[in-house]
Amino acid sequence: MKAVILAGGEGTRLRPLTLTLPKPVVPVVDRPFLTHQLDLLSRVGVTEVVFSIAYQPDRVRRVFGDGERIGRRIHYAVEETPLGTGGAVRNALPFLDDTTIVFNGDVLTDVDLPAVVERHRVSGARATLVLTPVSNPSAYGLVETDAAGRVQRFIEKPQPSQITTDTINAGIYVLDTSSLELMPAATNYSIERGFFPGLLERGDHVGAFVHRGYWIDIGTPEKYLQVHRDVLGGRFPVALDGRPRDGGWVHPEARVEEGAELVGPFYVGPGCQVRAGARVGPDAVLTRDVAVERGARIADSVVWEGSRIAEDAAVEGALVGTSVRIGRNASARPGAVLGEGTHITDHSRTA
Ligand code: GDD
Ligand code: MG
Repeated sequence: MKAVILAGGEGTRLRPLTLTLPKPVVPVVDRPFLTHQLDLLSRVGVTEVVFSIAYQPDRVRRVFGDGERIGRRIHYAVEETPLGTGGAVRNALPFLDDTTIVFNGDVLTDVDLPAVVERHRVSGARATLVLTPVSNPSAYGLVETDAAGRVQRFIEKPQPSQITTDTINAGIYVLDTSSLELMPAATNYSIERGFFPGLLERGDHVGAFVHRGYWIDIGTPEKYLQVHRDVLGGRFPVALDGRPRDGGWVHPEARVEEGAELVGPFYVGPGCQVRAGARVGPDAVLTRDVAVERGARIADSVVWEGSRIAEDAAVEGALVGTSVRIGRNASARPGAVLGEGTHITDHSRTA
């Protein structure tokens, strides 16, 4: 059994952050996003993984390489032009064996993957999909099942009148690899609109596994911020790379001066410096090498590597990219998303 992670999207809705860092490697608190999917896959013994990429492959390679450092074997299936979700999996075929796990590269979940794989084996299904209930299915792929849990119908991005159930495709599949040959090679093809409905038309058994735990698609700034609140708040459990302190985590290589105020939950990563009189938290993440000067306040925000928040600046509800400088007494307010190298001059405010 091997896995394919679909990571070919441009991350349009997370721009400008994804202009210089593709979505698969954006940090979630203290580690690149796809690390979580690799961790989930190791629970079913899958350590050989194909990253299916169509955008900035070198930047992803720079982070994960061939996987040796993290005890994995990572292959890269790079598309010259995006092949769609189905075409991309088909393109990874040379790296696969009998059974394949496919992950959409933008979902974070604590699904019980061993149970999904077991269900796939026991049921004899050609494909088993993880479904999850959401309050508004219209932005997703709706999946209808019968009483026995077999998939009956797919409605990708349903119109309001087509919403017949709250269970959507969670973007995680276990497939008999031989079925992938039903897809056309080197052609743009959708797994949701083409491949799965095609299996049903042939009368193949397509099974479902309903997951009711944590699940989120990180594709928008609001969701990306929400993931951080969830990790800090323990709703998505991760052992963070730091020491617990004042209701948050401080990395051993961070420097928090006496007189700095830490309000949990928060994460202060390696190389960060928080000066006396600064306030960090609640729900603040400083990924690494971030400087927070005297009197500055950061709450409900994520600040990436190498940024500096100067004296008396205020950052709230904001995503602050790499090497940003927020000047003295300046402010970044809810909804602000600042791309790499942004300089907010002293006393400026974003809203
Ligand atoms: N390699 C490659 N090539 N990857 C691709 C391509 C492509 O051409 N197109 C999309 N992907 C990757 C994206 O990077 C993402 O990780 C995943 O495939 C799904 O694509 P999205 O563009 O994020 O689709 P979506 O979120 O609108 O819908 C999909 O995910 C929902 C769950 O989040 C569908 O699978 C829905 O049915 C599902 O409910
Ligand atoms: Mg998505």
